[in-house]
Amino acid sequence: MEIFTIFPSWLLTTALVFFMFFTFLYTLISNRSSITAPKLPPNPPKLPIIGNLHKLIGKPRHQALWQLSKEYGPVMLFYIGSKPYLIISSPAMAKQVLKTHDHIFCSRPLSKGVKRLTYNYLDIAFSPPSDHRREMRKILVSEFLGPKRARLFNHLLVSEIETMVRSIGSHPPNVAVNLNKLFLATVKGVVCKVAFGNNYRQQPIKGPSWEVLVDEALEMLGGGLGDSFPWAGRFIDYVSGWNDKLETCFTNLDAYIESIIDDHKNQIAEVTDDEKDFVHALLELSSEDNTSGHRLTKEDVKALIMDVLTGGVDTTLVTLVWAMSEIARSVRVKQKLQTEIRNHTRRTPKVDVLDIAKMTYLKMVVKETLRLHAPAPLLIPHECMSHCQIGGYDVIPGTSALINAWGIGRDPSTWGENAADFYPERFEKFEVDFEMVPFGGGRRSCPAKNMAPATVEFVIANLLYWFDWEVPDGVKSEDLNMQEEGILVLHKKVPLRLVPAKYNWDD
Ligand code: HEM
Repeated sequence: MEIFTIFPSWLLTTALVFFMFFTFLYTLISNRSSITAPKLPPNPPKLPIIGNLHKLIGKPRHQALWQLSKEYGPVMLFYIGSKPYLIISSPAMAKQVLKTHDHIFCSRPLSKGVKRLTYNYLDIAFSPPSDHRREMRKILVSEFLGPKRARLFNHLLVSEIETMVRSIGSHPPNVAVNLNKLFLATVKGVVCKVAFGNNYRQQPIKGPSWEVLVDEALEMLGGGLGDSFPWAGRFIDYVSGWNDKLETCFTNLDAYIESIIDDHKNQIAEVTDDEKDFVHALLELSSEDNTSGHRLTKEDVKALIMDVLTGGVDTTLVTLVWAMSEIARSVRVKQKLQTEIRNHTRRTPKVDVLDIAKMTYLKMVVKETLRLHAPAPLLIPHECMSHCQIGGYDVIPGTSALINAWGIGRDPSTWGENAADFYPERFEKFEVDFEMVPFGGGRRSCPAKNMAPATVEFVIANLLYWFDWEVPDGVKSEDLNMQEEGILVLHKKVPLRLVPAKYNWDD
């Protein structure tokens, strides 16, 4: 039967025209999209609503992401809910983000916790870029971390360490000392004295202890579910009590900071220039008499103090704990380091800051600690502000780069087969560029990257100069528990307890 007897010819002609038109349109669209479609990095299969979140279950975040990078490569796209993250897991890719495209990746993602605790994005560490933030960073460097305070810092460090050594010396023999507690008191003592003129050993306010306050603040800065799941997450944050926890955390922290500021306001007329600390300097910069430069508001001052509290103590504390744990685990390293420290110090009866300059092995030990135990394992997220390419892949603005400092520092393709071993001698020949990034890089890198390792070196030198250290009975050195815990800052899960024995110089 002829086809035309079933369908009239006008219908067939019209159908043919439509068919040709849509074929043309389809070809046009698919060609165009193959030209303009972004080439996105590999992404593990996602689930509806939660994205790739399920891939993080059961392991610390940095370890799970490191494992995935073995399958998906050093540039991987990862979704938590609807929020895209760019996971960076090699030195070359870290360099592209932190150096080549530093100007594009220098923002930070917005989040409810950060907004509240930074007085609406007025701080340095967690706020997006702005002229104001740049000024605040300059103030922190010149008034807290720079040479202006270095003498005071060293002086206070020496006095806090003397207190620490006395406290260990008065400990009953053969009993383990909790080094977490001891290091916290020392680091907090120095940072608080330089910053606030008082070590605040006594609680200045009613409410949670200092440690709880800082731990809670770090947890809140990590964000709530509402940051990644706009609708359901906000609801869960509300019903689970996360919002209330954030409010309580802010109220306690604010009251603590307010009390520090009040103390300083009461004394400012009486203190001499030599006695002025960081908060005095900030109050001067906020006074009406400050006609030059950047005049700070009270909220700016509070946000800066918040950065010192959350960024300055925990990171240094965990570095000390990991360093002493690694030293205690390796008899070889412990003996070699102790010999160096004692040989360079014997002539003066105590370790002097100048002696440290000669202790090259000590510097390698601290570097090796930071390689294996990056205190901020994924740094702080670097948010991409405009389209760019990393490793040949397109990155869409609003994507947050997470640089896996923990994984990069342990990668056998960079560090060789003994990458997982604590072997400080590797730095005799190794010039570091982006092969380890414990302090991040580029314009958002840690402003304390020179000062912080020097503090760690000084504390370790004193501990090993005065005492011999052993792991408690029943535990072999090499079996010391090294489990990790924490998201923003990586703590040792089990506090470090070691047995000190006062070194006998007459032997
Ligand atoms: C061993 C000790 C420390 C380590 C490992 C460390 C590590 C880091 C890391 C990884 C970052 C983020 C870098 C990035 O996102 O690229 C950072 C930022 C920062 N750190 Fe540290 N830090 C330490 C000590 C300190 C101290 C003592 C202070 C003093 C207050 C401090 C203040 C800051 C500030 C203000 C930022 C934000 C910089 C910015 O966003 O511009 N840190 N630190």
